[in-house]
Amino acid sequence: MAKERTLAIIKPDAVSRGLQGEILSRIHQAGFAIVAIESHRLTKEEAEGFYAVHKERPFFGELTKFMSSGKVVIMALEADGAIARWRDLMGATDPAKAAPGTLRQLFGTSIQNNCTHGSDAPETAAFELGYFFSGRQLI
Ligand code: RTP
Ligand code: MG
Repeated sequence: MAKERTLAIIKPDAVSRGLQGEILSRIHQAGFAIVAIESHRLTKEEAEGFYAVHKERPFFGELTKFMSSGKVVIMALEADGAIARWRDLMGATDPAKAAPGTLRQLFGTSIQNNCTHGSDAPETAAFELGYFFSGRQLI
């Protein structure tokens, strides 16, 4: 399997509960390299641009309000098959349906407040990595 990069976010619900260290430890144990990492609070506009693919969905307003409600940790993760592997580690969108031991099952509290984000395909990973990181940061 080829080395691949994905964009991961620890969402405001997890950061506000101080879960960054716990989640970073699980990322390390799962064998991902952290190529780039930064922490800041998104503006509503930045969250809207990031989730533009969902702009027609009924939850878009709530989602972008939530994503700009506090600091997030944004990462470029690298591993063989990183996109699928990170989504496996996160688990299903709804924490109530996420497999035991996944991040969302362990730390998510609702379908919205599900603690982490992950790119869902190579094209979205390329867009999302470029949305937050410069070429220099991704060397
Ligand atoms: P993500 O993009 O954040 O990694 O999550 P995902 O692929 O598993 O789910 P997606 O369908 O892309 O939804 C993006 C995020 O929107 C929130 N959501 N709220 N209220 C709702 O019914 C609802 N559905 C989704 C979640 O925060 C979800 O992760
Ligand atoms: Mg998604």
